[in-house]
Amino acid sequence: MARLPDDCVQLVICDPPYNISIADWDSYPGYLEWSKAWLNEVRRVLHSSGNLVIFGGLQYQSEAGTGDLLTILAHIRESRLFNLVNLIIWNYQNGMSAHRFFANRHEEIAWFAKSKSYYFDLDAVREPFDEKTKTAYRKDKRLRPESIEKGRNPTNVWRIPRLNGNSKERVGHLTQKPIAVIDRLISSLSYPGSTVLDFFAGTAVTTRVAIERGRHSISTDVEPSLTDYFESHMQRWIRSLPEGTPYIPYEMVEADQFARHPVFLQRELRRSLHTVG
Ligand SMILES: C[S@@+](CC[C@H](N)C(=O)[O-])C[C@H]1O[C@@H](n2cnc3c(N)ncnc32)[C@H](O)[C@@H]1O
Repeated sequence: MARLPDDCVQLVICDPPYNISIADWDSYPGYLEWSKAWLNEVRRVLHSSGNLVIFGGLQYQSEAGTGDLLTILAHIRESRLFNLVNLIIWNYQNGMSAHRFFANRHEEIAWFAKSKSYYFDLDAVREPFDEKTKTAYRKDKRLRPESIEKGRNPTNVWRIPRLNGNSKERVGHLTQKPIAVIDRLISSLSYPGSTVLDFFAGTAVTTRVAIERGRHSISTDVEPSLTDYFESHMQRWIRSLPEGTPYIPYEMVEADQFARHPVFLQRELRRSLHTVG
């Protein structure tokens, strides 16, 4: 992230380690201090209309008491680093059973904005009404016909299934997020041609959706398996595209083409503007 210019990213999708030791990558003794470092960088690279979403579960508690999602949320609120726009409840029907408490069926997605003039395209993610509902609503003179055609606001409770072990979308990562969740975030919180960043990318599902939606994408992960997972996503996607659709496999993209990613071009532009000014 330190290599990225200021203000160059529209949306950061952040699904950080939860600090509950579910995998080798999931323990950070100084969780809050470590999180502060990347949160400060997020603020720097985000455009003033930019958005940050952080995944996690309030139910997951940090074993060692060194921090969890609640610690991050409290820090952001106290430091006023970002403004909370929505706490989205991602509700699913599939999950573990429980006997000593109510079985957990939700995770949280905290949506933050860098400023009050954040980008949000509600129309891109409205849920269409079915024909029966539309016919009934058209008789109601208080409702505007164009609103009926546009569909309903999906609200801040999203009922989207989690990926089962045998889900067709799964490429092998323990905590892979569903395309439907990432798609709703990318479609509403970024715009075509803008850049989406995910630095805890896991399987790079963010990149897969970003490409499909015409956004630029930067994804990284501490695990080198990121590229294998990404390749699996791409192979599945390519198989679903119409025959004859052209594409360039990423291993054939020359290094200097990566350097021409729009965020670096912006930096070049800024540099030359600085020289002229
Ligand atoms: C919760 S998973 C993300 C899963 C991803 N959202 C998906 O749907 O595929 C968190 C990821 O953070 C990565 N990670 C952990 N520590 C990291 C670090 N210091 N820098 C970059 N990635 C890290 C892990 O390897 C893991 O893939």
